[in-house]
Amino acid sequence: MIIGSKIIYLEELPSTNTFAISLLGPERPPEGTIIRTDFQSAGRGQPGNTWESERAKNLLFSIILYPEMISPGEQFLVSMAVSLGLHDFVGRHVPAPAIKWPNDIYVKDDKIAGILIESSTIGNKVQYMVTGIGLNINQERFTGSAKNPVSLKQITGREYDLERCLYELSHDLDSRYRILKEGGADEIVKEYHSSLFRKDRWTGFSDKNGLFEGRIKQVGNDGRLTIERRSGSPADYYYKEVEFIF
Ligand code: BTN
Repeated sequence: MIIGSKIIYLEELPSTNTFAISLLGPERPPEGTIIRTDFQSAGRGQPGNTWESERAKNLLFSIILYPEMISPGEQFLVSMAVSLGLHDFVGRHVPAPAIKWPNDIYVKDDKIAGILIESSTIGNKVQYMVTGIGLNINQERFTGSAKNPVSLKQITGREYDLERCLYELSHDLDSRYRILKEGGADEIVKEYHSSLFRKDRWTGFSDKNGLFEGRIKQVGNDGRLTIERRSGSPADYYYKEVEFIF
């Protein structure tokens, strides 16, 4: 087991990602170390966003990864593997989750989990990827500005044991990450695509030129999204260059 081989728990932190990065000095923690907390005072979301999580209600953790097998231009493969691990976990508890590009986990049209990866590369080598995960488990009300959060409890009405969830989820993440480490990138790419939210379905999007209708065709190993437009040629987008219109 790589992911979850060591778990560091602290009751409260500003952000597990920030704390994990601070541990990456000359003596690095073992690969797969998890830093977990019950409350973040400055939880970070994707650039420009915060991450709301009521104390001790949800899973908030970061995993320290050293994906030496991945070239810097293909780091998104790690994001795909982690998204699939989360998708596996959520899919055992509620029907039909999906991965919304680039790496949110959705149930119907609501977001149950988000991933924030912060990495460093030197030359042609990925030094580390700190992979932060927020998974909404027992929270019943969200008061922040996120537009469509949801938790497992809101969907099923059940209360979950967070320790048990972390145990299960770290196994799911570990299985997917080990496939990637052992040369199974093709499998990860294939399964990511088959779990992708609204793949091949005509959907409204907006980009810098305004609204358009298109359908998702594929995601590259660098995270680039290709959308076939109803009118005109296919277009490629990196994160934040295009949005879904709900
Ligand atoms: C997103 O905006 O979708 C990404 C959310 C990532 C939140 C997690 S919670 C644990 C880790 N520490 C942080 O500060 N953020 C990530």
